[in-house]
Amino acid sequence: MGRRLIVGNWKMNKTASQGEALVRELARLVTRTDSVDVVLAPPFTALASVRRVLPTDGRFVLGAQDLYWEDQGAFTGEVSGPMLLDLDCRYVIVGHSERRQYFGDRDEGFNKKVGAALRHRLSPILCIGETLAQHESGLTNEIVITQLLGGLASLTAEEIRATTIAYEPVWAIGTGRAATALQAEAVHATIRHHISTTWDAEVANGVRILYGGSVTAANAGPFLASQHVDGALVGGACLDPQSFAKIIALASSETQGFS
Ligand code: PGA
Repeated sequence: MGRRLIVGNWKMNKTASQGEALVRELARLVTRTDSVDVVLAPPFTALASVRRVLPTDGRFVLGAQDLYWEDQGAFTGEVSGPMLLDLDCRYVIVGHSERRQYFGDRDEGFNKKVGAALRHRLSPILCIGETLAQHESGLTNEIVITQLLGGLASLTAEEIRATTIAYEPVWAIGTGRAATALQAEAVHATIRHHISTTWDAEVANGVRILYGGSVTAANAGPFLASQHVDGALVGGACLDPQSFAKIIALASSETQGFS
């Protein structure tokens, strides 16, 4: 088991100056992250100001919430890999269910975005997950694997190694109704199995699979103690520095348990 990864997805919250204040407070609460990787993913408009106040010891790194696959050109409203790199982003979230739900984004586009991220040495975090109706119809594995293989289509084993997967059941996002650690563990094991059969076992064992969906300081422990859960993608709770600091602390202690 490698280092755990905790990602704070701010979504469309915090102005540039509010983001700066949030990160200052977080840095006061979290003074070391020796055994866990922590990514902050503010809105595009706050990346530059957050970068200015990031502790210089690398305790936190920057991530973006999306990117476009072209590097530059006439694509009004979009942001490219080189633009994110220039702001020191290391990670980029791709395929969030809110993108599917509200903006009509699809697997083919996510696949191009994953490819663009890798081309620019940004580590993509591909989000996959089933809706409540799909969950209740017993379609969880089918949907998750379709999205996984669609998003990662034609990637090499080496590229998969640089990629993170986030399993985020749509019914658990922002609802306060998290999956159980057992449910997450079962889906994560299925995801790892498919990565193993499509690419190879070594890559599958190394790839980090995060759980996301109503993760809080109160429920993160059991997820982080699960064998196949390598970290968390945190939405609402990452906007509260106290809660996010607790989740980071839990991830650090779980990592030590596995090392
Ligand atoms: P949530 O969001 O923690 O607010 O449920 C998670 C996410 O959508 O990444």
